[in-house]
Amino acid sequence: MINKKSIFRENRFDGLFLKGDKIIIRSLRRDDIDKRVAWTKYPDPLYFHYNPPNLGQKEKEEWYFKRINDPNLIYLAIDNHSGQLVGFISLYSIDRLAKSAWMGIFLGYEFTDKGYGTDSISTLAKYFFQEMKYEAMFLDVASHNQRAIRCYLKCGFKFIRTKYNKHDPRSDLDIFGDDRYKDIREYFKKEGDEILCQFDEMILTKDLWLTQNPILTS
Ligand SMILES: CC(C)(COP(=O)(O)OP(=O)(O)OC[C@H]1O[C@@H](n2cnc3c(N)ncnc32)[C@H](O)[C@@H]1OP(=O)(O)O)[C@@H](O)C(=O)NCCC(=O)NCCS
Repeated sequence: MINKKSIFRENRFDGLFLKGDKIIIRSLRRDDIDKRVAWTKYPDPLYFHYNPPNLGQKEKEEWYFKRINDPNLIYLAIDNHSGQLVGFISLYSIDRLAKSAWMGIFLGYEFTDKGYGTDSISTLAKYFFQEMKYEAMFLDVASHNQRAIRCYLKCGFKFIRTKYNKHDPRSDLDIFGDDRYKDIREYFKKEGDEILCQFDEMILTKDLWLTQNPILTS
């Protein structure tokens, strides 16, 4: 049987503390899921999948242990300087040989558009390239998500290619019928019964990062 106490001690990122201008990135805590549940919900159905699901105690434990035990995942919490949990940032599909990883981030609805996203990614990128000594950070972003794209461009990411993926199955959206989506319909297509969403793949390489942060590397 797995001893949860020993798993907790094996959290590789226990004690991690990365300070940005507006945020602190730190290791995940078990009660972060409860704090997340208290966030204001995203009102736009396009972002419903970022709203926390209703979880029982056992599922909350699973949520935590799944994130700290996966060797190919680094899942971290983001606090603002007032100590409020404002979001989560992760590195996944970590490839130790290629020295690359994919980055994911989401904030609570009330914490968006305050510069926390840009500061979190820039802070993590510094750790990723300088301390972890990795070479490339990738991400996928839905092409209609202009706020996220603006944030990633500010952090130095470049577009690689576009592709179509299934839209998040948790969002049951009537993209082609509901007039609220008329301006972003161009980013979706129907294939049989499925609705596919256009995504942009983006990359931040160490070289790109170095050209934007020359002082940090000298
Ligand atoms: C994407 C996300 C992490 C960005 O973090 P953030 O703190 O909100 O972003 P920032 O405030 O640092 O930067 C956002 C930028 O986009 C701009 N912006 C906001 N809404 C916009 C829109 N509809 N179109 C274009 N730009 C927009 C802001 O003005 C700002 O740019 P500026 O600093 O030049 O004015 C955050 O909004 C979020 O968690 N969103 C929901 C989940 C999500 O989309 N995750 C990413 C999935 S790939």
